[in-house]
Amino acid sequence: MTDHTDPLHWTGPYMNWNTRCAECHSTNVEKRYDAATRSFDTRFSEVDVSCEACHGPGAAHLKWLEAGSDDTVPGAGFPVALDQRGDWAFVDGAAIAQRLEPLNSNTQIDSCGRCHSRRGTLGEYHYGMPLLDTHRLALPESPLYHHDGQIRDEVFVYGSYVQSKMHQAGVVCSNCHESHSLQLRAPANGVCAQCHQAAVYDQPEHHHHPAGSTGAACANCHMPETTYMVVDPRRDHSMRIPRPDLSVVMGVPNACNQCHQDQSAEWALAAVRDWGMRLTDTGSHPGRALQHLEQGKLQATPSVQALAADSTATPIMRATALSALGQAGAGLPPETQALLRSPEPLLRMGAVRSLSNTSLQQRYGLLQPLIADPVTSVRLAVAENLAPVPLAQIPEEQAEALRAVFAEYVAIAQEHADMPGTQLQLGMFLLNRGDLPAAEKAYREALYLNPQLLPARLNLADLLRVMQREDEARSELQTALEIAPNNSAALHSLGLLETRAGNRAVALDYLRRAAEQETEGTRHRYVYAIALHDSGEQNQAVSVLEALQRRAPGNADVLLALVNYTANSGDRERARHWAKLLVASDPGNRNYQALQQQLGGP
Ligand code: HEC
Ligand code: HEC
Ligand code: HEC
Ligand code: HEC
Ligand code: HEC
Ligand code: HEC
Ligand code: HEC
Repeated sequence: MTDHTDPLHWTGPYMNWNTRCAECHSTNVEKRYDAATRSFDTRFSEVDVSCEACHGPGAAHLKWLEAGSDDTVPGAGFPVALDQRGDWAFVDGAAIAQRLEPLNSNTQIDSCGRCHSRRGTLGEYHYGMPLLDTHRLALPESPLYHHDGQIRDEVFVYGSYVQSKMHQAGVVCSNCHESHSLQLRAPANGVCAQCHQAAVYDQPEHHHHPAGSTGAACANCHMPETTYMVVDPRRDHSMRIPRPDLSVVMGVPNACNQCHQDQSAEWALAAVRDWGMRLTDTGSHPGRALQHLEQGKLQATPSVQALAADSTATPIMRATALSALGQAGAGLPPETQALLRSPEPLLRMGAVRSLSNTSLQQRYGLLQPLIADPVTSVRLAVAENLAPVPLAQIPEEQAEALRAVFAEYVAIAQEHADMPGTQLQLGMFLLNRGDLPAAEKAYREALYLNPQLLPARLNLADLLRVMQREDEARSELQTALEIAPNNSAALHSLGLLETRAGNRAVALDYLRRAAEQETEGTRHRYVYAIALHDSGEQNQAVSVLEALQRRAPGNADVLLALVNYTANSGDRERARHWAKLLVASDPGNRNYQALQQQLGGP
């Protein structure tokens, strides 16, 4: 149990009603946080979710009622028209109904998504604007989601719903949920039968379970439940087809085994094959490419690039692919420039994030036109990417535009100065701006608000290192290890710190533990191998690198080290073998080709 001295306790700064709850559980909330005194002067018009939370200010609606409720007025006088259910029909006896007029805005789902999504808030709420304008939406990335996009942590509804084919086909929340009672529009499978012919789908030929049984409920197979905090069951709204094959090859869950817990994924796979299901993309599923890239397997790059460029995939998965390419520092798809101009804000934001590992000059060139993007999340992503631009070295007019977007970034962060995550992001931004003391202050505030927030502590330690305050850095890292004894990043940073301090044996031990704990990426194992080599353990260094090359084949740093170490120890044959793979990892690279030639051989 958490007691009241714990920041996660109800009365602590982190779980405070005003900070953490009011904006979704009340209406017209103004948080009014004073960072100097760390106190709130919160106001709201109603303590629960009422009309205005969804429809916006109601004064015009009241006028409309008084004037006799004219049916032709869209949205009943409310500023936001949420009525987007549309008319649906089974055209020519089709098994699935079709929307008769296309849906051309996401107003309804975006207004529900404001509360039913995993996100951070960006300043004041603007009714009717895209969700990305008012919120920083969490993309379906690990660890919040599984690599194929299924929910994992408590992420609510929106981020999974917008992955669904149904969203792409124009289905909105109110097609299934009556928006005022919040009841389903029809009981059990009836809600799906509105658009999926019961004569086709609600049949043992489709679901292979006794009619009316739990195994025959559409939602149980297509919206499996995950339970959080013991009591909160959540249905995955990506409405996907159960894929036991992906469980076998990539370890993600599937609906079948969520019920059949005593059976293996292989069993479920055999059953669906037996039912006649044909699985053609087990190997090429984009979720696998995303998983591989995150594990450091750079050969997955072309597949992730293809997902980013695939106009039939959902914008949220394409944005996730773009963001993953940026994080991995992998090559960008040729479509990147076009995606920066996409009308879909998710794609623009993804494309901006994809540039995070390119040179500052390249980023600056490409992102010019997006400094004034109409959608806040996109502008803030631009501000983060361009934070290091030296304003004194660019034309005054451009510097002025950047100053404005930087100021907006800081102003929005300050409105949410009570959120530890916001302070952490602000710290990173200020660091990139070159304001080290301000960055330190933000990290420390994040840690005051939530001492458990490890990334803030690791960043603070790194900042202290930059400011040459190594002893303070060491003490922050040791505190981090007290909170999370096996944290790979903390162990790694301590290893580097002790290396700098000349404590080689201690350093090597930390680096070894970091390498052992590394589950994603390759950096910690790579650095451990280098450290082993530098302390004379050549053979061990090579075997760590070989193991790493087996786990994450094609990583150029790893291959280059293997070439050098084996060549130095006189094993030219092994060296030639690694050099061949090195050249294959980046066929255009002349340095690699030269190295291969030096080694000679066939
Ligand atoms: C991002 C929006 C959001 C925030 C922030 C939020 N909630 Fe909720 N909460 C919801 C939604 C949406 C539901 C119900 C739907 C669901 O289960 O997804 C819910 C359900 C609940 C329920 C279940 C009872 C019921 O009426 O159904 C409780 C209790 C609750 N929240 C308490 C809290 C507390 C306490 C906080 C602050 C620590 C908080 N919530 C913060 C959105 C939020
Ligand atoms: C949880 C969000 C939510 C809340 C709270 C809510 N509504 Fe609605 N309302 C909707 C949605 C969504 C629609 C469109 C329903 C549809 O698609 O059929 C709607 C439809 C309406 C309509 C029909 C006109 C139109 O815009 O389509 C009126 C009138 C209305 N609501 C009034 C109210 C009033 C009055 C309240 C408070 C008592 C209220 N609503 C509370 C979501 C909400
Ligand atoms: C201002 C925040 C907010 C908005 C906007 C909002 N909701 Fe909710 N919703 C909540 C909260 C909080 C709860 C749970 C507590 C309650 O019932 O008040 C909830 C409950 C629900 C539930 C019931 C969940 C359950 O566990 O039974 C459904 C369904 C739902 N909302 C759908 C919608 C839809 C659809 C929209 C958009 C038309 C919408 N909500 C808009 C905050 C919001
Ligand atoms: C195709 C139908 C369908 C659509 C579209 C849909 N839902 Fe649901 N939703 C369901 C079903 C079915 C359940 C499970 C209800 C139950 O078990 O009582 C559910 C459950 C929920 C719950 C309860 C908590 C949870 O996560 O299980 C919330 C909240 C919710 N939906 C919100 C939304 C919102 C917001 C949208 C639009 C972004 C939406 N739903 C779109 C069918 C749908
Ligand atoms: C308002 C209409 C509507 C409702 C209600 C509806 N669907 Fe759908 N559903 C569609 C449409 C349209 C498609 C997309 C067909 C396409 O483009 O291939 C679809 C596709 C699907 C797919 C295929 C997904 C895929 O990845 O291939 C599944 C599964 C599905 N629906 C399940 C459900 C379930 C379960 C429910 C009830 C909880 C439901 N649907 C309710 C209209 C609806
Ligand atoms: C026991 C699990 C299970 C249940 C229950 C179930 N389905 Fe499915 N559904 C599947 C599987 C497996 C597939 C993939 C079939 C294939 O590719 O051969 C599928 C595919 C689909 C598709 C997409 C393929 C197509 O034919 O268009 C839709 C739509 C769909 N189901 C709707 C429904 C609806 C509606 C219900 C409830 C009446 C339902 N399902 C109940 C397992 C289930
Ligand atoms: C909501 C829970 C649930 C889900 C989801 C579910 N099942 Fe079942 N399944 C059952 C139950 C309960 C039975 C026993 C049926 C009966 O005789 O009433 C069963 C029976 C079976 C059987 C025959 C009996 C056996 O154990 O050999 C097979 C095969 C099977 N399920 C496969 C699947 C596959 C494959 C999926 C996913 C596509 C799936 N099930 C999804 C609950 C579920």
